[in-house]
This record gives sequence, structure tokens and C-alpha cells, in this order.
Amino acid sequence: MRFAFGLSRFESEWLPKWLGPLAKEGWFQTVLFRVKMGKEALVYCCEGPGQELIAAKVYKSRKKRAMRYYGDYTIGRELLASDGMPARSDRRYRNRRISKEEGQRLEEISWVQHEFQTQRLVYDAGARVPRPLAVNDNVILSSFVGDRRGAAPTLQSVTVTPLVAGEVFIQLMEQVALFLSQDRIHGDLSAYNVLVWEEDFTVIDFPQAILASKHPEAFSFLYRDIERLCQYFRKFEVDASPQMFAEEMWKRYRRGELRDLYDTLART
Ligand SMILES: Nc1ncnc2c1ncn2[C@@H]1O[C@H](COP(=O)(O)OP(=O)(O)OP(=O)(O)O)[C@@H](O)[C@H]1O
Ligand SMILES: [Mg+2]
Repeated sequence: MRFAFGLSRFESEWLPKWLGPLAKEGWFQTVLFRVKMGKEALVYCCEGPGQELIAAKVYKSRKKRAMRYYGDYTIGRELLASDGMPARSDRRYRNRRISKEEGQRLEEISWVQHEFQTQRLVYDAGARVPRPLAVNDNVILSSFVGDRRGAAPTLQSVTVTPLVAGEVFIQLMEQVALFLSQDRIHGDLSAYNVLVWEEDFTVIDFPQAILASKHPEAFSFLYRDIERLCQYFRKFEVDASPQMFAEEMWKRYRRGELRDLYDTLART
């Protein structure tokens, strides 16, 4: 594994440890550049064996994360272990008490696993999200949106004309409906988590995704996601009522109509 840029002290300890094994598996040879230091993760652009670009989202160590309160989001979720399977069916955790540290570490691993699995679930259902490739306890590899000069800008940072804005807004609502058809709510949807590239957009950042059928506050998360998008599009003269969209979607979801709709689409 080679780095094409200078590393900070933290990175020179952390990256070989977590990216090294994935490089050994053959996913990439070179880490080209750092894209962004986010609140909980650092994102890098890597080069795969066929020169394709791969995004590596490397979670920070617990101490360095600006922690979201996981509990708000994780209600109804299984706690997942390193192999992506429920920890309760894991020999190492079954039939014994685990320490507080082990429990915390398991929560972090589960957080990353849920992001990967949600992304895979909605990607397979046809959602516009980066293609998930590989995962370990601290890293998610997926297809990179952008080029060698840098990552695609976020929707927040681009200007769109009212005509295009109306179209993009509707397409994003379709993504929200598609997530919901898979029993998921993004949970942190905003113009900051939508990348715009070559007249197309991609939704990113799924660790906090809500299990719609199991979370008692599911509707408020759906409403919040839709409300944030409506608010953003208002400055481009798109006048949509979050109440109407959220209630209509929820109604169809409860009746099982979203699932039917996307099952039909997936078959055609
Ligand atoms: N697949 C990708 N292709 C290109 N860039 C990406 C990709 N995934 C993430 N990024 C870039 O990395 C940034 C952070 O990613 P993400 O939102 O998943 O992490 P985060 O830790 O939640 O960050 P933030 O604190 O900014 O929300 C994104 O805003 C985007 O610029
Ligand atoms: Mg983000």
C-alpha cells in the first residue's frame, strides 16, 4: 500500500492498521488523497487495480469522534458483530457477560456494519448510492463519486436553476420512498449528504439509518429528512409541503404499497 500524500501522525498509525488489510486483499494499491475529515470518519480516495476510484470511509477512534448519541437511532436494530451477523449468535459473545469496553466496541462495530448493510440493501434495490464493496470494523469501501482531482461537490454547495431543482427534488423524494420500501429511513438526509456529479446525484452517509417498522419514532425521522430537503429546495423556488409528502409516503408504506411498487419496478 502506498500513500500519495503526507500523513498526519494520527493517520500514520491509524491508516496502515485499518486500510492495510483491505489493500492486501487487493481492493487498491494506492491511497491518492484525503477527501474530508468528517465528524466521525475520514474519507480517502484510493486507486483500485483497474485504476477505478474507490472511496474509503475510515472511522476515527472513539476518543476522536464527535459522537452522535447512537441510542436515538439504534432502537429495534440487531447488534452486529465483525462478521456482519447478530452478536447474539456469535460464539464469542454468547453465554458470557461482556465488559463495558467490549460492549462499547461492539456498538461501534455494529454502527459501521449497519451503514454497510443499509447501503447494500438500498443499492441492491436500485437506489442512487455509492456501490458498497467491502467492510471491516472501521472502514467501508464503496465506489468513489468524483474524479482524480477531487470528490463530487455536495448539493449544499452547488447552485441549481429552479427548473432543475424541481426535478432533483422529486427524484430525491423517490429515493426517500425507495429507502422506505426497504423498511429504512436515512435519518440524516440533507443537502450535505447528497453528492452531485455529471448531472446525477448520489445519496451518502447511512450509519444512523432507522428501521422503519421497529422504531417508535420512525415517522418523525421521516418527517425530519423530508422537511430538511423541502427547506433546502425552497431557496430554488420549489414550494413543497413536507407534511403532505411525509404523510402520503407513510400511508403508502403502512399499506405495503411502496414495497409492491418497487418490487414491480425491480422485476421490469
Ligand atoms: N463514495 C464517495 N465518493 C466521494 N466522496 C465521498 C464518498 N463518500 C463520502 N465522501 C465525501 O466524504 C464526506 C464525508 O462523508 P460522510 O458524510 O459519509 O461522513 P461523515 O463522517 O458523516 O461526515 P460529515 O461529518 O461531513 O457528515 C462527504 O461529504 C463527501 O465529501
Ligand atoms: Mg455526512
